Amino acid sequence: MSTAMRGDGGDVTAREPKRLYLKTWGCQMNVYDSARMADVLAPLGYAPTDRPDDADLMILNTCHIREKATEKVFSELGRLRAARARPGRPDAMIAVAGCVAQAEGEEILARAPYVDLVFGPQTYHELPEMVARAERARGTPVLNTEFPAISKFDHLPGEHAATGPTAFLSVQEGCDKFCTFCVVPYTRGAEFSRPVADIVDEARRLAAAGALEITLLGQNVNAYHGAAPDGGTWGLGRLLAALADALPELPRLRYTTSHPRDVDGELIAAHRDLPQLMPFLHLPVQSGSDRILKAMNRRHTADDFRRTVDALRTARPDLALSSDFIVGFPGETDGDFAATLRLVTETGFAQAYSFAYSARPGTPAATLPGQVDAAVSSARLTALQQLLAAQQTAFNHATVGTVQPVLLEKPGRHPGQAAGRTPYLQAVTLEASDRLIGRVVDVRITEARANSLAGEAVTVDGVVAIARPPDRPAAGEAA
Ligand code: SAH
Ligand code: SF4
Ligand code: F3S
Repeated sequence: MSTAMRGDGGDVTAREPKRLYLKTWGCQMNVYDSARMADVLAPLGYAPTDRPDDADLMILNTCHIREKATEKVFSELGRLRAARARPGRPDAMIAVAGCVAQAEGEEILARAPYVDLVFGPQTYHELPEMVARAERARGTPVLNTEFPAISKFDHLPGEHAATGPTAFLSVQEGCDKFCTFCVVPYTRGAEFSRPVADIVDEARRLAAAGALEITLLGQNVNAYHGAAPDGGTWGLGRLLAALADALPELPRLRYTTSHPRDVDGELIAAHRDLPQLMPFLHLPVQSGSDRILKAMNRRHTADDFRRTVDALRTARPDLALSSDFIVGFPGETDGDFAATLRLVTETGFAQAYSFAYSARPGTPAATLPGQVDAAVSSARLTALQQLLAAQQTAFNHATVGTVQPVLLEKPGRHPGQAAGRTPYLQAVTLEASDRLIGRVVDVRITEARANSLAGEAVTVDGVVAIARPPDRPAAGEAA
């Protein structure tokens, strides 16, 4: 740690804080983990910077899910090395964290021997010790890809440095499903659920720090089965109900990412009973072909998915859906792909992500026969994305003219504007005073663009209407 020093000329150099540059790829769990890494390093004097040039420690929090994601790490490492070579920061350290570190730790050190630290997602609570070790032994990189017996969640600071109007909260990590295309069970390890009480505590702290929307995170968030205060084990539905109960003033709860197999009766009931639980659900289905779903080891059929969606929509008629799709999985025929298009057409998605299959080393699908030609995958991806984009546009247009509660999260791009999200996670911009940021405001949607909406705040007697959960009276605030 730097202290005031006497330089050669005898003048006193001011104490300089250390700077931390953190770049994050991948899913929301990586976003959450990056914030926890910053929390754990803060007591060591590290303050965040968004410029690698003046950082003392640069961490890349990486994603291994597709080949492209992995390759980005190596090009970014070259950039960091160049940043370190500039005058003045010879002692800056370069670290690789996240899922590429876990899966390819040795390879990173072989390809980029100038890296000082490589550590996997389950080791972040050991970060201060790892940094100290790397500082002591410059030139001898630290590699830590253990799955420690002690949970990182018990050893990371519960106090979070920064919370805006929206916050993530990891409740579950890891995956035991072993879909044949996926690296996550290998990079994140076995399923682990945090105890209910710990989650409620963390949610209370987030709400006290200003969070109005909390998104529960897990690689398989609805496989959640945490130790409960009553001595039993609760699923996600009961956890959501407990959070709604403990935080009656919190206007918004969400969760992601869920698996169709783990949508149970209690979770469906939560969508029916909890007004705080937003009517928008990301439920990846990957394919509409039973043959492909089986080869993917998804362990449900297309009709199982249809029935689950029907049950959710019966419970919460205004529920909008998002999903993930993979095209070009080994063995996928034109007929299989047509079944995916059919499922999309029948279900109707407000939004979705779709990917061309990427063979991942070490996963069972990588060695399956019938790998699909890149040109075929690419044509299927284009067709699927056109259909999904048309559905998204139709969904966005359908909200024009309606009034939506919008959580204002930040200033808009132009002065006098604010940006926020509807219950369906649609981005909205409107004219609004900065004082309204961090409030849920009723907004009349006036225009739908490709990826966002425009609107105007609803006023009652010249006062902006602050939206409230249905059972609470509305309060007003001057515009
Ligand atoms: N746990 C989530 C998925 C996490 S990965 C679930 O079970 O649905 C996010 C998405 O990346 C997946 O839903 C899938 O659509 C995509 N994906 C994962 N592995 C992939 C691969 N090898 N090639 C292409 N897309 C992949
Ligand atoms: Fe990957 Fe399947 Fe687990 Fe999702 S459920 S993280 S796709 S193995
Ligand atoms: Fe990527 Fe790891 Fe998340 S592989 S999607 S960062 S769990």
